[in-house]
Amino acid sequence: MNAIDCIKGRRSIREFTAEPVSHELIEQIVDVARFAPSWKNTQISRYIALEGALKDRVCAECVGEWNAGIIGRAPMLIVQTFVRNRSGFERDGSFTTSKEDRWQNYDAGIAAEAFCLAAHDAGLGTVIMGIFEEDKVASVLSLPEDQGVAALIAIGHPASNPEAPKRKEVSELLQFKS
Ligand SMILES: Cc1cc2nc3c(=O)[nH]c(=O)nc-3n(C[C@H](O)[C@H](O)[C@H](O)COP(=O)(O)O)c2cc1C
Repeated sequence: MNAIDCIKGRRSIREFTAEPVSHELIEQIVDVARFAPSWKNTQISRYIALEGALKDRVCAECVGEWNAGIIGRAPMLIVQTFVRNRSGFERDGSFTTSKEDRWQNYDAGIAAEAFCLAAHDAGLGTVIMGIFEEDKVASVLSLPEDQGVAALIAIGHPASNPEAPKRKEVSELLQFKS
């Protein structure tokens, strides 16, 4: 699959077959995602692949009804975390720019897209979920203090093939100035 087909063809998938996702495939996807660019190559994204009881706990305790339905239908849930206080920070702990610590979310977003594109290329479906209770996820997973939760990503073999939601036209998005 070429890059443009991969970017345009990836969809958020919210229905999955019961087939488990092989751990080897997830390793291959993270092997791709680790090539995402990051602030000063700080590579702050981490991936915790949940199945079984821990996935069920995140589903029951940390998200609302809509996302619980998705997670319940997915064989695996990726909790994407990030190492705090590196992306956007100087070595002395001060912020490098006026965006302060927001570069860490930017980096996590780029990495999440790389992850989802690699999954799509491998024939898997994903959906990034931003609506969850961060403190509860951190507690269920006993995350170390130096890590935050960036996003939840449900992943599995797709059981639906949705149309792309409408996109804005290039003319609405782009302007040239001189
Ligand atoms: C940061 C972010 C948070 C999102 N949160 C959710 C979510 O909580 N639940 C959900 O069903 N979809 C969520 N989505 C998926 C979007 O709804 C989806 O990407 C958008 O509608 C475009 O559809 P597409 O991904 O198929 O192109 C999220 C996407 C992003 C990038």
